[in-house]
Amino acid sequence: MEQGGNVIHFISKIENIDFKESLEILAEKAGITLPILENGIDSKKQLLKEKLYEINKEAALYYHQTLYKDISKPAQEYVKKRKLDNKTLKTYTIGYAPINSNLYKILKEKGFTDEEILASNLVNKVGNNFIDRFKNRLIFPIQDVRDRYIAFGGRVLDNSLPKYINSPENIVYSKARNLYGLNVAKKLKLEKLIIVEGYMDVVSLHQRGIENVVASCGTALTEAQGRLLRKYAEKIIISYDSDAAGQAATLRGLEILASLRCDIRILQMDGAKDPDEYIIKYGNGKFNNLVDKAISLIEFKTKVLKKDLDLNNVNDKIKFLNEIAKLVSTVDNKIEQEVYIDKISMEYNISKEAIYAEINKLNYSRNQGKKTLESSYTRNNIIKKKKVLPDALLKRENMIIGILLEGKLEVYEQIKNILSPEDFKKEENNKIMQKLYEEFEKGNSNINNILEIFNDDENIISILTEIMANDYEIKNDKKAIEDLINNYKKEKLTNRKKEIIDSLNNKEIDKQEEISLEKELQDIILELAQIK
Ligand code: UTP
Ligand code: MN
Repeated sequence: MEQGGNVIHFISKIENIDFKESLEILAEKAGITLPILENGIDSKKQLLKEKLYEINKEAALYYHQTLYKDISKPAQEYVKKRKLDNKTLKTYTIGYAPINSNLYKILKEKGFTDEEILASNLVNKVGNNFIDRFKNRLIFPIQDVRDRYIAFGGRVLDNSLPKYINSPENIVYSKARNLYGLNVAKKLKLEKLIIVEGYMDVVSLHQRGIENVVASCGTALTEAQGRLLRKYAEKIIISYDSDAAGQAATLRGLEILASLRCDIRILQMDGAKDPDEYIIKYGNGKFNNLVDKAISLIEFKTKVLKKDLDLNNVNDKIKFLNEIAKLVSTVDNKIEQEVYIDKISMEYNISKEAIYAEINKLNYSRNQGKKTLESSYTRNNIIKKKKVLPDALLKRENMIIGILLEGKLEVYEQIKNILSPEDFKKEENNKIMQKLYEEFEKGNSNINNILEIFNDDENIISILTEIMANDYEIKNDKKAIEDLINNYKKEKLTNRKKEIIDSLNNKEIDKQEEISLEKELQDIILELAQIK
């Protein structure tokens, strides 16, 4: 499979973005508009999206400029109280929505339509009036990795509730897929990325020289966010608030990141409720110490475990040992296991031997368990054999995927008329086809990002890479596709033929249906004859 344009690949490497994005950036620089697929709904949605990016940008700049005006004294005082300097305000386009904010008027003057303005969710229509969503709030615009403004968070200037209101999700904003501050952080070459809970934590750390920081905005980390983090940094450091809610969120986020096989560390903080407060109180150097001392997943879980237990109590100690053994045995690497056991033994004053003994006990009972399970399975003969699929069929499936991976829309159209993803018998191929279809349907004929879509599924990645690496000796693309499709068509028609004959023979069907089935049967027989 061809690797594609090298300039584009070069850009995507250095800018840390995917192929399609690089293409768009290049086009933008060259002043070329990339064609938007002219298939009705899609292009209309695309145009609206572009408008929303424009509207959001206008709004962000309006709020930002307003912050510097005389009418914004309360906000200026608040910003001062929170010790934000001007550079920070500029870097994050922080702004202020005044009490009497009238974005509708401003946006109308810029030529946007009511429909567009309402779609941005920055303005609501109440009766005949257009009312701003954000009033008398400090504004944190949220940008995506391409610096586009996609949403806003607005903070009150006092202690009233709700503390923040945020933009709802819409066609340019998916909360689960973005991280606040990533557009700024990604401009550095990142070895590690710190993830915090709040807007204020991001901007405050950044201002004090900790620039590799992003926020999940107070909600549980999602898998998509996990993948984003992993894309931009090798190591991820979770630095959530030190309160119970923050620690619970840390645990949840950890599970997600661990399942994505990220290298994770957890930052432990005392003497402040969140990173913003900590760095103001203790400074950059102390915070960096915490980063260096951040602990591993196993250590963090051990700590959480210990919290509710009293190790002077025998029962608690047994329980603790038991749980630790379970935790440590999840680590595959023996040397790493040893390191953890050493650390835990020192920190909690438990002998290494006791921990090893517990792990051995666990392994033993696990193996026993496996044995009894296996024998009972065989006894009852309920082992499900994995269906063995014929080689020819697998080859055929792989070839079609291989062809689709070339990203030719016209080929896709041809294939989709005959085949649906469900026709693919191998489970993984079925999944791959589903995604490919989705991407093509989105008008994304550049399927370079297919590997990225399956980022966390190593099995599928290896299947895909194998397909990509395989040269199916397709000399004549068109002919090959026709042959493949014909095979499937034949198979489908033959199956349907059998079905119809069965229903005609067996079922009590009414005359009307009989006629239509017979008609269909005739057509099928004709079609089959043509293929042969
Ligand atoms: P925090 O309450 O920790 O906010 O919530 P913060 O950013 O540290 O702000 P300060 O320091 O109190 O001023 C963390 C994040 O949760 C989201 C926001 O994204 C916030 O930054 N949040 C919080 C909301 O969306 N709504 C809320 O009412 C509260
Ligand atoms: Mn805070």
